[in-house]
Amino acid sequence: MASETPTILVTGGAGYIGSHAVLALRQAGYEVIVLDNLVYGHRDLVETVLKVELVVGDTSDRALLDDLFASRSIAAVMHFAAYLAVGESVQNPGKYYRNNVLGTLTLLEAMVAASVKTLVFSSTCALYGVPETFPIREDQPHQPMSPYAASKGMVERMLADFDVAHGLKSVCFRYFNASGAHPNGRLGEDHDPETHLIPLVLLTAMGKRPAIAIFGTDYPTPDGTCIRDYIHVCDLADAHVRGVDYLLRGGTSDVFNLGNGNGFSVRKVIEQAKQITGRKFTVLERDRRPGDPPILVGSSEKARQILNWQPRYPDLRDSIAHAWQWHQVRHG
Ligand code: UFG
Repeated sequence: MASETPTILVTGGAGYIGSHAVLALRQAGYEVIVLDNLVYGHRDLVETVLKVELVVGDTSDRALLDDLFASRSIAAVMHFAAYLAVGESVQNPGKYYRNNVLGTLTLLEAMVAASVKTLVFSSTCALYGVPETFPIREDQPHQPMSPYAASKGMVERMLADFDVAHGLKSVCFRYFNASGAHPNGRLGEDHDPETHLIPLVLLTAMGKRPAIAIFGTDYPTPDGTCIRDYIHVCDLADAHVRGVDYLLRGGTSDVFNLGNGNGFSVRKVIEQAKQITGRKFTVLERDRRPGDPPILVGSSEKARQILNWQPRYPDLRDSIAHAWQWHQVRHG
């Protein structure tokens, strides 16, 4: 057993961040099985780009999970599968609690039953709500402002309880704003509907959308627009591999922020996208989007120290340039 290549079950591996993590795991020498219900994930990315086994199914399907854990030797789970639209979660909280919380509970119970006790979980900086101090550290209080964020906080709590009761070890990563695409041009962000700033700006630059709207120009920030901490998706993927390595070496359960430590305003993102794409497009100024905190910038010192993690692409221009390359391939 010790000499075998460990197999990692990646839920949501056909999605944006999950697919990048699958590639990083393969490059680090792990075997990977993807479990994805393909509601938002992309079969073609798993089958033709990642070329790993895809099991189509849901984390709430206990029989499927029992069968998976019984038939394979799975060393750890990376759990990305979740719904992620903040606005939709406010309109339809049941959808979020059912999928993100109940689906995860079923997964955790199946893991314990199969004695698979290592999990890396995708959490979010949205847990911090409107923080009082910056940069945000992991010990700041939770004030989730949406059912989406609350669902992630509930899973973090369940993970702490499952460690006490069952010895299930977990690493929770609280992402700031995932951005960019793989520099190989074959993996990237493809949400439907798309709500995130950088892909929307790039789709506008491509002429696929008539204009980009800035949601709020009266925030208490230097240029009046919201500031976010954009972290390259390959840096997130690298942290996940470090997280699973850490746990498989016997590390204790922990939570880590994953951000760049630098904030960029919406206007700055749009300006850089204009420079990188060389395209002209229409920018509109609109009212604030409900629930958007003015500033979210995190400290990732803990991940740097404990996981020896260091972003390889700290420059926002790399994120935008890689996403531009991907969008031209995917939507050109
Ligand atoms: N924005 C615009 N116009 C748009 C889209 C977004 O001005 O058309 C602004 C938003 O108001 C916000 C910023 O761009 O100020 C970034 O918005 P995104 O929707 O790209 O990202 P969010 O910061 O709202 O949310 C993302 C993820 C969440 C996660 C959160 C953590 O969608 O899942 O990051 O910061 F919780």
